[in-house]
Amino acid sequence: MPITTCIFDAYGTLFDVSAAARQAAQEPDHASLADHWPAVAANWRLKQLQYSWLRAVTGEYVDFWQVTQDGLDWALEAQGLAGDAALRERLLALYWELSAYPEVPAMLGALKAAGKACAILSNGSPAMLDAAVRSAGLSEWLDDVLSVESVGIFKPAPQVYDMVGQRFGVPRDEVLFVSSNGWDAAAAAGYGFTTAWANRAGEPVDRLPARPDHVLADLDQIPRIAEA
Ligand code: LAC
Repeated sequence: MPITTCIFDAYGTLFDVSAAARQAAQEPDHASLADHWPAVAANWRLKQLQYSWLRAVTGEYVDFWQVTQDGLDWALEAQGLAGDAALRERLLALYWELSAYPEVPAMLGALKAAGKACAILSNGSPAMLDAAVRSAGLSEWLDDVLSVESVGIFKPAPQVYDMVGQRFGVPRDEVLFVSSNGWDAAAAAGYGFTTAWANRAGEPVDRLPARPDHVLADLDQIPRIAEA
C-alpha cells in the first residue's frame, strides 16, 4: 500500500534533546556544566527513558514532564551538580524550547507538498509538545500532535501506536513511522507500520523481535521513502 500518513517521534527525532545541556554549558552562569554537559545530557535522556519504561511496566503513570524532571535530578546528582538549583531550573526551561534538527522543516515541507498527512506521536505531555512545536516553528506542517497522555501509558505499549489508526483512520501499512529511538522503531515495525530508524548516533540495531524497514543517518531521505 502507498504511504499516506507519516508519523514522527518527537524527542531525539525532530527535536534535539541534547541542545538544552549543550546550550546551558555555554552560558557564563553555568560554567560548572562545561566539562560535564555530555554526561548530563546522556544520563538525563537515559534515565528519562528508563523511568518511562519502568512506569509503563508497573502501571505507575505520571506525565512525561515528571519523568523528565526525575531523570534530570538523577543525572545532575551523578555529576555532583545536585545542589545547583539555578542550573536545574535553566535546563528544564531550555527543554521547552528545544531546536529542531536542521533538515526537519524542509523534510516536512516536502511531505506536505506530496499530500501526506504528518503528525507527531510522542511520550511528551501536550503542553511540552505544544511549546516545542511552536518554538521550533513546525506547526504549519503538522496535521496533529498526539500525546500518550490520552492513553496513560508510555511507548512502546501498543495502545500508543493504536492512536494513529484512531486519529487518521488508515490501515497500518499506509503509515510510515519515523523514530531516532531504536526501541521505538523496533516496536512500531512489530506493530505493522513501515518504519524508518533515524540512527543519528550510529548505534547497533536493537535486538528486539522486529527490525525497522529503513535505517537512515538523519531525516533527509524520508520524503523519498514515503513516495517509494
Ligand atoms: C518521544 C520520546 C520517546 O518523543 O522520544 O516519545
